Amino acid sequence: MELLTKKFQVRSAINSLSNNKSIGFVPTMGSFHEGHVSLIRKAAEECDVVVVSVFVNPTQFGIGEDLAKYPRNIDRDSCLAEEEGVDIFFAPSEEEMYPKGRQETWVRLGEIEEKLCGAFRPGHFRGVATVVAKLTNIVRPNKLYLGEKDFQQLRVVQRMVEDLDMGAEVIGCPTLREPDGLAMSSRNAYMSPEERAAAKVIYEALMEAKKVAQTGTHSADRVKQALVEKLVSEPLCRLQFVSVCDSESLEELTRLGGSVLIAIGAYFGTTRMVDSIVLSFS
Ligand code: PAJ
Repeated sequence: MELLTKKFQVRSAINSLSNNKSIGFVPTMGSFHEGHVSLIRKAAEECDVVVVSVFVNPTQFGIGEDLAKYPRNIDRDSCLAEEEGVDIFFAPSEEEMYPKGRQETWVRLGEIEEKLCGAFRPGHFRGVATVVAKLTNIVRPNKLYLGEKDFQQLRVVQRMVEDLDMGAEVIGCPTLREPDGLAMSSRNAYMSPEERAAAKVIYEALMEAKKVAQTGTHSADRVKQALVEKLVSEPLCRLQFVSVCDSESLEELTRLGGSVLIAIGAYFGTTRMVDSIVLSFS
């Protein structure tokens, strides 16, 4: 595995590959858990060359968000990547990614940016889209692997890649969960044991909502009500939003139909969690 920190090194490593090699790319912020590893494995299954980046991207963190305390564990991450057969491990510094200090050019997103999490994190998805565009321009992958765990992020990147003809295929990968259903996340470690135990209510609420949705009701409001009732029953849960929306446009629904995303954003202490499931209706 090549451990690289400079863009020119990645470009020359990519340029030296023969043309018929397919490149799979997994962008991450590091502190790997099984969710990250599942993306890397999928890329390794489907592509000849696997590139993984680890970069805690400052432009997607808002004021007062957890940039400084975001977990960093580059040595462990590079060992895990090596074990998984990653070919190129790219861990640039902030100066390498943003040499001019501040970015003048941004990917501007449409309405998709303001929905769900976007409503509470102004500028977050603009930062995500811009850094993924920069990384994708450096790596020039055939396939780009992202988790469904961050469903809005997946949709934002899919739309960007399509709208800007970036030429990669975006592959959405299923959410890996802890035994009690909590979605794996680098942020889970921030929670106290009490908060961590309470956080299982997110998955329970999603399962409750699924049950209601499958009773034959067409009412999105009934599904939302089931979500809220379950979440507020847990005193340590501070609810931010629930959404029942079209999984493509992320438009809120009144009537269930087609591919439906059921999503939750909630705080446990100061830790913000997001999770979702997708259901299909004929
Ligand atoms: P990060 O949070 O490190 O996540 C990297 C990738 O792993 C994302 O595509 C995310 O959706 C996926 N992932 C996280 N938890 C997962 C789980 N439990 N199961 C499956 N996949 C999971 O998301 C980011 O980094 C950044 O915003 C990034 C896209 C790298 C841009 O900076």
